[in-house]
Amino acid sequence: MKEAGNIKALMLAGGRGTRLKPITHTVTKQLLPVANRPILHYAIDQIRQAGISDIGIIISPETGSSVQESVGDGLKWDARITYIVQPEPLGLAHAVKMAQGFLGESPFIMHLGDTLIQTDLTPLIEEFQNHTPDALIMLQEVSDVAVLRLTGVVQVDETGKVISLEEKPQQPKSNLALIGIYFFSPAIHESISRIKPSQRGELEITNAIQDLVDRDKKVLGHRLRGWWLDAGKKDDLLEANRAVLDQFLKQDIQGQVDAKSSILGRVEIRKGAVIEDSAIRGPVSIAEDCVVKNSFIGPFTSIGKRTVVEDSSVEHSVILEDCHINSIERLADSLIGNRVNLAKREQRFKGIQLFTGDDARIEL
Ligand code: DAU
Repeated sequence: MKEAGNIKALMLAGGRGTRLKPITHTVTKQLLPVANRPILHYAIDQIRQAGISDIGIIISPETGSSVQESVGDGLKWDARITYIVQPEPLGLAHAVKMAQGFLGESPFIMHLGDTLIQTDLTPLIEEFQNHTPDALIMLQEVSDVAVLRLTGVVQVDETGKVISLEEKPQQPKSNLALIGIYFFSPAIHESISRIKPSQRGELEITNAIQDLVDRDKKVLGHRLRGWWLDAGKKDDLLEANRAVLDQFLKQDIQGQVDAKSSILGRVEIRKGAVIEDSAIRGPVSIAEDCVVKNSFIGPFTSIGKRTVVEDSSVEHSVILEDCHINSIERLADSLIGNRVNLAKREQRFKGIQLFTGDDARIEL
């Protein structure tokens, strides 16, 4: 690995996570697991692989300690991690403001901690170093206007030079979305000091980049190919789980599998997990101390620590920790939070009995 000079990284793990409620009542979205590993860890992997070792992480007062607990001091990545508390989620540009002491006059990559991309960051860092723009922003073509309305939308000329940017426009002027990975020179700090909060009350990094354009600074766009997932949404989280299991999962059986069970394809069964009388068809990740009995666990499924699945069939799903799934015939395309009890009961009067928390979404 080549070290990337004096480039620092700023990762954002603050914010509110409203779109993944109810799960984000208790788990911050950057720590939601994809293939049984927090999303944020993949982002740190990519930053580290690109040769950056000085990493600042923005955290919120509410969920900061869980991020610190999960990432630690960075030793396992051989990186130096500095935590920066953002007292309120007042916008992406506000987060950069909070990090000014850490960033100093260094160029830096900013990474929204809930974003996963397939592409290796190394060639992008080289592009940033070779062309020395004030901003190099990662873009992806999006055909769905409804999705564009939830992103920053960018117009570029044929040379890749950025002409205009708009945050969450009603009428998108192009099909290029900001994916949440940006490279900046220190010129961004002055632009941030010049912008005002947007209608949603946030200091938008999109507007700060527009200010760079307005000041005739060099702002380049780079179109990414391959998948991009904003794991802050349910369907994207399932898709991220599918893509990561598909691409990166290795066969690794450390738990116990009895003779009546069959394992097909790439399957990870971590320490302490017990599989009895079941069929597991990969790619599947089963975390530590799970119990799977008389069940089918289908492709593209991740099951969190200590979850018990009995007499059930589960596919294309992410189940978090300490759940109990009992006698469910076909659980599919589902995202299940921590400590959920899902059971089918035989009863004379058929009816649905629910005991749910706030903000639950149930599709029957
Ligand atoms: O997903 C890409 C989009 O991300 C871009 O297209 C938009 O231009 C950009 O503004 C951003 O929009 P979102 O509305 O999706 O951002 P969100 O509020 O989800 O925050 C992104 C990440 O930054 C998330 O990990 C939470 C964190 N965050 C957010 C805010 C507002 C902070 O750490 N502090 C904050 O103040």
